[in-house]
Amino acid sequence: MIKGIKGVKDILPEETPQWRFIEDAARRWALCYGYQEIRIPIFELTALFARSIGAGTDIVEKEMYTFPDRDGTSLSLRPEGTAGTVRAFIEHNRAADPLPQKYFYIGPMFRHERPQAGRLRQFHQFGVEFFGTSDPRADIEVIALLWRLLSDLALSNLTLEINSLGSSGDRAAYKPILLAFLRHQESRLCANCRRRMDRNPLRVLDCKVLDCRAATELAPKLTDHLSPDARAHFDQVLTGLVAIGIPYRLNPRLVRGLDYYCLTSFEITSTHLGAQNAVGAGGRYDGLVKTLGGPSVPAVGFAVGLERVSLMLPEASLSSLNECLYYVAAFGEEGIKLGFVLLDELRGVGISAQCDYRATTLKGHLRQADRSKCRYAILLGDDEAARGSVILRNLESKAQEELPLVGLTSILKTRSFSS
Ligand code: HAM
Repeated sequence: MIKGIKGVKDILPEETPQWRFIEDAARRWALCYGYQEIRIPIFELTALFARSIGAGTDIVEKEMYTFPDRDGTSLSLRPEGTAGTVRAFIEHNRAADPLPQKYFYIGPMFRHERPQAGRLRQFHQFGVEFFGTSDPRADIEVIALLWRLLSDLALSNLTLEINSLGSSGDRAAYKPILLAFLRHQESRLCANCRRRMDRNPLRVLDCKVLDCRAATELAPKLTDHLSPDARAHFDQVLTGLVAIGIPYRLNPRLVRGLDYYCLTSFEITSTHLGAQNAVGAGGRYDGLVKTLGGPSVPAVGFAVGLERVSLMLPEASLSSLNECLYYVAAFGEEGIKLGFVLLDELRGVGISAQCDYRATTLKGHLRQADRSKCRYAILLGDDEAARGSVILRNLESKAQEELPLVGLTSILKTRSFSS
């Protein structure tokens, strides 16, 4: 038997209503904030990811699904959506159109990570990218959109962690200061941190190994070395968050695993998620459009991991998702004929309805109606057919009423709108 790939999951029919619920909420909020949907390819030139995310990052170095095209060109499955969105923005000369422009995407991403709860090799992101303004209110807006979506989905125990990575000049000036500190701690650092310390000392701050965390507890903070402009930008973001009531926690260790960030960087974490505790994350990337060959266009965005959202979705949000409204219990010679037509009429006007064609008795139908979690059963046997009516049975309260068969679809349509 050929099995699915490790870390690549099927989303089964009983799970898809929950996924649609999350995706619908994401789309609704994105549109409400003025973002338009973009659909970018699943695979791109490997060079795109190396140049944007950074050739020395874990994602590009170790986690991409990379393969040669038939002519030998190196291609990769997208590990995230920002690089492709920026490429499309440049390639279609969108900067020539009025700015700002706001895009969102939903779709699968691919990273060869060690699978565990909330960490997959094919996972799904909802992401937004806001091009064309360096105003701190754009940073606040994307954070607010993410916060509002997660709150609307009733996810609990969320913390917004935020940091400023300063300008590239700020980081260049800070790196030797941090490196000097790290050299004194070198013997306490893990092998991975010792290896990458010289090339990218900031990543050491982000290491999850407890000894490394202890060794860098007193490390100099980048936020203490920001230029006045970067400091002012960060202060305005924080003030704006307070103004719209979004609580935050400053996290000087938050450096992110992608190289394109500058200034604001943030993560929303949850204590419900265990080791993989980031539900969504993002930040500003003012230099990326230019790095990839476009004009100088500032931008900010985030992406949220939908598997992680789905793990955290409260049971209460799920109870009514899989519901079909009517079960047509048609039995007896005439009942079956009329019931089949009724079933088709209900569906024709957009009312969800179903019937198990194997059931031949009322009892058999009611068992199937309960199983299918329908709210009502429409009982239509030969007696009802002779009277030109049906019995509408509420499957929860068991209350019944008799309704005329002629015009039934219109009556139920009116009710389904008012309920
Ligand atoms: P990221 O932090 O790499 O950022 O990923 C964003 C979110 O995707 C994470 O917080 C997590 O919820 C989810 N995620 C990442 N890897 C996995 C995985 N292996 N399995 C399940 N979920 C995962 C980015 O991707 C940036 N492109 C975000 C961004 C957009 N920044 C600016 N614009």
